[in-house]
Amino acid sequence: MKSIKDLGELQGKRVLIRCDLNVPLDGETITDDGRIRASVPTLTALREAGARVIVLAHLGRPKGQIKPEFSLRPAARRLSELLGIPVPLANDTVGEGAASTVGALADGDVAMLENVRFEPGEESKDDAERGALADKYASLGDVFVSDGFGVVHRKQASVYDLASRLPNAAGLLVEAEVGVLQQLTEQPKRPYVVVLGGAKVSDKLKVIDNLVAKADRLLIGGGMVFTFLKAQGHEIGTSLVEDDQVDTIKALLDDPAIAAKISLPTDIVVAPEFAADAPPTTVAADAMPADQLGLDIGPDSAAAFAAEIRDAGTVFWNGPMGVAEMPAFAAGTRTVAQALTEVTGLSVVGGGDSAAAVRDMGFADDDFGHISTGGGASLEYLEGKELPGLAVLAD
Ligand code: 3PG
Repeated sequence: MKSIKDLGELQGKRVLIRCDLNVPLDGETITDDGRIRASVPTLTALREAGARVIVLAHLGRPKGQIKPEFSLRPAARRLSELLGIPVPLANDTVGEGAASTVGALADGDVAMLENVRFEPGEESKDDAERGALADKYASLGDVFVSDGFGVVHRKQASVYDLASRLPNAAGLLVEAEVGVLQQLTEQPKRPYVVVLGGAKVSDKLKVIDNLVAKADRLLIGGGMVFTFLKAQGHEIGTSLVEDDQVDTIKALLDDPAIAAKISLPTDIVVAPEFAADAPPTTVAADAMPADQLGLDIGPDSAAAFAAEIRDAGTVFWNGPMGVAEMPAFAAGTRTVAQALTEVTGLSVVGGGDSAAAVRDMGFADDDFGHISTGGGASLEYLEGKELPGLAVLAD
């Protein structure tokens, strides 16, 4: 991948940059601006080089329709605050609004186009349709910088097709993210501990398959625990479960080499219903009551996981251990997060949900070795998949 310094003289050039500004919103209020902050270094470098910067980004999944609730307005406002300059937002993505916004840019200015996913071509499976949209994007710029790490696993017009239409380079964020993931995949300092949580085991199966060979320990928490417990023949009450994955998990656990690396929780916090005020009780993982559901890993499990994490040379963590947004069921996630802050080797928090959870709990970004801006992207990288948005830059 080329770096922005390989793009040559940028003074007066129109630089199209794909960022991932897909931030969680409560109405128009951004509840975690981590991805916007992570975009600032490359934008600043481009401005300092005298470029006219045009930001392409998506918000949510409007599926090719113009939906005002998915406008990038809040992101443009926050970016303007962070850069300390006006960041005008075009009222469309590739129409007259975009052309006049780009035309009004002076050297060092930054503007944004509206949500790229308002355009049906952006996520189209049809190469020609995506290509036609990428041609329109390309007509607005002279060079392309790919800096939306969270979206490089998507074969989409502004991520993939645009890159092959203009001289391109990876932005500083993409370089940094790839650098950290390379450390995890090539010679991680041992012991290498991977902590996986989140609701669905089906989302994590491939990464488990790939990492079980590379990692020394795999600690499993979150909603997917119950599919593992069911596969072991335990009662799981009314907990979340993916019945169609039970046999796959059984086969995984039947392999002694794999089973020896996996740690499951030994205790679980249960409640009669999925509600913030439901009364929590801690029970043994192999003795869950039939009429309750598990909402967090228990304190003994959290302490055992924390001990393994603290001793690790390298840790990668993706996915909360319980329902982190409900205080009664957040302790497991908090304990794991705290342990990651005490790791002397490299600690990596991967993904939107885990990143938002740790910031919401009051941890600072620099408490960790690295907080990735990409959930799906970092998992797919660790699964060993080729990510289209990176492959096209290497080409
Ligand atoms: C993310 O939130 O992980 C990225 O912004 C990608 O979004 P997507 O999953 O909707 O493609």
